[in-house]
Amino acid sequence: MKIILTGSLGHISKPLAVELVAKGHDVTVVSSKPGRKEEIEALGATAAIGVLEDAGFLAATFAGADAVYTMVPPPNFTAPAFDLLPHVRSIVTNFATAIRQAGVGRVVHLSSIGAHMAKDSGLIRFHYEAEGILSELTGTDITFMRPVGFYYNLLSFVPAIRNFGFIASNYGADDLIPWVSPIDIAASVAEEIVKPAAAGRNVIYVASEELTCNQVAAILGNAIGKPDLKWNLITDEQLQGIYEGFGMPKAIVSGLVEMQSSMHKGVFYEDYYRNKPTLGKVKMADYALEFAAAYSRD
Ligand SMILES: NC(=O)c1ccc[n+]([C@@H]2O[C@H](COP(=O)([O-])OP(=O)(O)OC[C@H]3O[C@@H](n4cnc5c(N)ncnc54)[C@H](OP(=O)(O)O)[C@@H]3O)[C@@H](O)[C@H]2O)c1
Repeated sequence: MKIILTGSLGHISKPLAVELVAKGHDVTVVSSKPGRKEEIEALGATAAIGVLEDAGFLAATFAGADAVYTMVPPPNFTAPAFDLLPHVRSIVTNFATAIRQAGVGRVVHLSSIGAHMAKDSGLIRFHYEAEGILSELTGTDITFMRPVGFYYNLLSFVPAIRNFGFIASNYGADDLIPWVSPIDIAASVAEEIVKPAAAGRNVIYVASEELTCNQVAAILGNAIGKPDLKWNLITDEQLQGIYEGFGMPKAIVSGLVEMQSSMHKGVFYEDYYRNKPTLGKVKMADYALEFAAAYSRD
């Protein structure tokens, strides 16, 4: 199959490209950087250099494709005057236009846990919007992949562990949280993209392991030589104050606090538990090695 991947050689798209090439598919990888061409070709894929903001480039790149994997790169939430929802709407509208123009019949879109929520999902609400835009396409089978929280999010706690010796957030302690590795997401996308979507539209959750935050703290703590590491639960107001104190924009902090508050209350995971996937292969204990390497390096 001729398959186009957005997301360059990122966390998911690189292992995805490797797997699809190994299975004999004709793979094109989209990157914004001309300097990535050689690395993409070394994987056995074709490079398409351009930006997702360019609908014409996308339509030309998608032409003749049997399937396309679309994803919105993580926005720089903290850039001055950055307006998240218009930015995402414009990229996803470009995807939709290009898919329509190129007549692509099969799309797997990287969405997120929480994308079923029209409100109370804070920073992640853009995935709800993105699914809405792509759902308007007719004649294209679409699967929305909804991975849970990535293991690599835990790196944001490195400074707190180093400076204060504990983790603190408005979710934590005994909250049961599902986690995922990009490797397991890539494996799910690779499986899904080569088959038709059930009933034209499909949602697939992806998770690797479900653990309480106390269990996560114990695994990471052991890996970094701090076996007593704790993950303390603090209030929404306390977290808001801490992040604003670091100079983060108030609206971004509010979005983060709202999303994590829904994680703590469990509403974020209601649809996941109704549609629970088979868990992937990469466990927190595996990820802890990567976390420990980053902890000692940074
Ligand atoms: N973190 C979580 O817990 C979580 C949970 C659920 C869903 N998600 C979603 O997962 C996605 C992130 O996936 P990931 O980690 O695989 O991403 P990633 O590693 O950051 O890869 C994205 C790649 O896209 C390319 N890119 C950036 N801007 C571009 C542009 N304007 N045009 C073309 N290419 C561009 C970049 O490569 P080049 O520099 O080569 O262009 C970048 O490496 C986000 O949509 C996020 O919302 C995250």
